[in-house]
Amino acid sequence: MVLKVLHGDSTDMNLYSTPAKFDGIINRVLLGALCAAIILTLTLGVSSLAKAQQLVDQEVPDNIAVQPAPEQPVPYSHKTHLALGLTCEACHTNPEPGVLMGFPETDSCMACHDTIATDHPGVQRLNEFSSTDQAIPWERVYQVLPGVTWAHKSHIDAGVQCESCHGDVSQLEVMSMTTSVTSMASCISCHENRGAETACATCHAWPAALISPLVP
Ligand code: HEC
Ligand code: HEC
Ligand code: HEC
Ligand code: HEC
Ligand code: HEC
Repeated sequence: MVLKVLHGDSTDMNLYSTPAKFDGIINRVLLGALCAAIILTLTLGVSSLAKAQQLVDQEVPDNIAVQPAPEQPVPYSHKTHLALGLTCEACHTNPEPGVLMGFPETDSCMACHDTIATDHPGVQRLNEFSSTDQAIPWERVYQVLPGVTWAHKSHIDAGVQCESCHGDVSQLEVMSMTTSVTSMASCISCHENRGAETACATCHAWPAALISPLVP
C-alpha cells in the first residue's frame, strides 16, 4: 500500500477523495446536519450543555492492543504529579514553531526534588542528570509516521484539549500509548466530527515529498 503511493499511482488517491461534483450536495447535507444539531442543542437545554462542557471526553478510540510502556531513564508518574494540582502546561510548553509539546527542563523537576523524596532511587537518578546538566533522554511514546503534517499548536489554538487525544493522563502511573491518536483513522474521524479539513493534502505532502528521496 505504501509502495503504491510512493510510486505516485494517482488512482490510489482518487479511491479516497470525493469527486468535486458532489461538493454541492455534501455542503447541503452538512448544512442540514448543522441546523439539526443547533435545534437539538437548544431543545436539550442549557443545563445539560453546561454539564457536557465540564467533562473532557476522549475523542479518539483506545488502542485495541495493550501497549507496554517503554522503560524511561527516570521513573515518572503523571498520576502522582497531577494529583498535586500541576497543569499540563507547567511541564509541556509547546515551544515555537509549535509542532512539539516538549519535555520539562531537568531543573524544573529539581525545583521540588532538591528537597522532596531525595532518598527515592528515581529521584537520585534525576539528581545525577541535574548535577551533570544533562537533559533526560525520555523515550518517546506517541509518534506519527515521518512525513505526516502535524502540529500541536493548530489543535490547541482550535480549543482541542489534551485529554481528547491522550485520554485521562491523570490516572497513568506510567505513560503508554493508551489511545490510537497517531492512526490516520483517528485523525480523520475527529476532523469529520469537528468540520476540519479531510483532503489528503491536509496531512500528506506526497507524492512530491516522498518521491524525491527515491528519484534523484
Ligand atoms: C511535572 C511535569 C509534568 C506534568 C505536570 C505533565 N507531564 Fe506529561 N510528561 C512529563 C514527563 C517527564 C514525560 C516523559 C516521561 C513519560 O513519558 O512518562 C511526559 C510525557 C507525556 C506524554 C507522552 C509523550 C510522548 O513521548 O509521546 C504525554 C502524552 C503527556 N506527557 C501528556 C501530559 C498531559 C496531558 C498532562 C496534563 C494532564 C501532562 N502530561 C502533565 C512531565 C509532565
Ligand atoms: C489533536 C490531538 C492532540 C492533542 C489535542 C494533543 N496531542 Fe499531544 N500528541 C498528539 C500526537 C498525534 C502526537 C505525536 C506527534 C509526533 O509524532 O510528533 C503527540 C505527542 C505528544 C508529546 C510527545 C512529543 C511532543 O510533542 O513533544 C507530548 C509531550 C504531548 N503530545 C503532550 C500533549 C499535551 C500536554 C497536550 C495538551 C496541551 C497535547 N499533547 C494535546 C496528539 C495530540
Ligand atoms: C511541584 C513539585 C514537583 C515537581 C515539579 C516534580 N515533582 Fe516529582 N514528586 C513530587 C512529590 C510531592 C512526589 C511524591 C513524593 C512522595 O511520595 O514521597 C514526587 C515523586 C517523584 C518520584 C518518586 C516516585 C514516584 O513517582 O512517586 C520521582 C522519580 C519524581 N517525582 C520525578 C520527577 C520528575 C522527573 C520531575 C520533572 C519532570 C518531577 N518529579 C517534578 C513533587 C514534584
Ligand atoms: C480530537 C480532534 C482532532 C484529532 C484527533 C486530530 N485533529 Fe487535526 N485538527 C482538528 C481541528 C478542530 C482542526 C482545525 C483547526 C482550525 O481550523 O484552525 C485540525 C486541523 C489540522 C490541520 C490543519 C492545521 C492548519 O493550521 O492548517 C492538520 C495538518 C491536522 N489537523 C493534522 C492532524 C493529524 C495528522 C492528526 C492525527 C495524527 C490530527 N490532526 C488529529 C482536530 C483534530
Ligand atoms: C487528518 C490527517 C490525515 C488526512 C486528511 C489523511 N491522512 Fe493519510 N495518514 C495520516 C497519518 C497520521 C498517517 C500515519 C498513520 C500511522 O502512523 O499509522 C497516515 C498514513 C497514510 C498512508 C500510509 C503511510 C504513507 O504515508 O504512505 C497512506 C497510504 C495514506 N495515509 C493515504 C491517505 C490518503 C489517500 C488520504 C486522502 C484520502 C489521506 N491519507 C488523508 C493522516 C492523514
